[in-house]
Amino acid sequence: MAKILVTGGLGFIGSHTVVELINAGYEPVIVDNLSNSNPKILDQLGKIIGRKPAFYKLDLCSQADITELHDKEPELAGIIHFAASKAVGESVKEPLKYYQNNFFSLINLLEAYKGKKLNFVFSSSCTVYGQPDELPVTEKAPIKTATSPYGNTKQVSEEILRDVVASGSSNKIISLRYFNPVGAHSSALIGELPIGVPQNLVPFITQTAIGKRQKLTVFGDDYNTPDGSNVRDYIHVVDLAKAHVAALKYMESGVDFGGYDVFNIGTGRGSSVLEVIHAFEKTTGVKLNYEIGPRRGGDVEQVWGDVTKAAGQLHWKTELDVDAMMLTAWNWEKYIKDNPL
Ligand code: UD1
Repeated sequence: MAKILVTGGLGFIGSHTVVELINAGYEPVIVDNLSNSNPKILDQLGKIIGRKPAFYKLDLCSQADITELHDKEPELAGIIHFAASKAVGESVKEPLKYYQNNFFSLINLLEAYKGKKLNFVFSSSCTVYGQPDELPVTEKAPIKTATSPYGNTKQVSEEILRDVVASGSSNKIISLRYFNPVGAHSSALIGELPIGVPQNLVPFITQTAIGKRQKLTVFGDDYNTPDGSNVRDYIHVVDLAKAHVAALKYMESGVDFGGYDVFNIGTGRGSSVLEVIHAFEKTTGVKLNYEIGPRRGGDVEQVWGDVTKAAGQLHWKTELDVDAMMLTAWNWEKYIKDNPL
């Protein structure tokens, strides 16, 4: 079985990708420093897949840890690199933490496996587009000046990867630009597990509904959108996880794509914050305590992706809708209430 290193494999998207790698016949090897994840997710993964996947608690920013990793896992078919800091607001307050963590880990990983022929998938983000001039946004849209250090790390990381391939690297590399991943695995055994107060919409919704938070605030209803609230392209995390498998298969197929490419990974449809709230209430039958508040600084008004490139080349498309996203996120929230991790 082809071994795929999954950095940040105990995180939200990483853990779901581990399951889809197993389903596709790969052997995932997880690396995580547990800075923003819970070690019990390893047990949860074991419950889904029937055995615990290989796991190393290592920090990719540490040269000693990277050497240890390479000694233990010299032969890999691929790497999926999720491990990174990802909170926009925190990145504005602590830019050096973001530049250190997100760049050092990427560079160390590339350096360690530089002579190998392997397929590398990088977690990028639609944040690289800022507020696009045209919607849906395509991969050809101009990259605007980043609005946060977090966004800047994604832009510059993509440039680093492009340069590495242009230098004649033996690695093939694909950056996946995710839109807004939400939802949870249908088993309700894994899902999003924010530490502290959630910054993202859907965990805030489910935590409010379960009673952990008193009230959800909708950050603005005076935008130039149909109902005045921000519009995003929410994508089910299981669909997103499958996109990583599709990217690996694409690189394995031997198709000549120049060694580096980027793909939008979303549903191609936008939903407003109020639509998401109403979908949650409808699918779960739970009334949500929410109020309209002021805008949140730095939010783009609306963005959703053109995903025809991924459909055409990766032969991948989403299968799950916003209702499924809400229902699975809610089932997970209920699970962790009854089974605290
Ligand atoms: C942003 C980035 C995304 C990045 C992510 C990391 C863009 C377009 N997206 O996602 O690439 O990976 O941060 O965290 O830059 N909202 C509320 N109330 C809340 C929480 C959120 O109304 O309590 C609203 C926000 O204003 C926004 C929407 O919900 O309109 C989604 O917010 P969030 O889940 O934080 O994701 P983005 O900010 O879109």
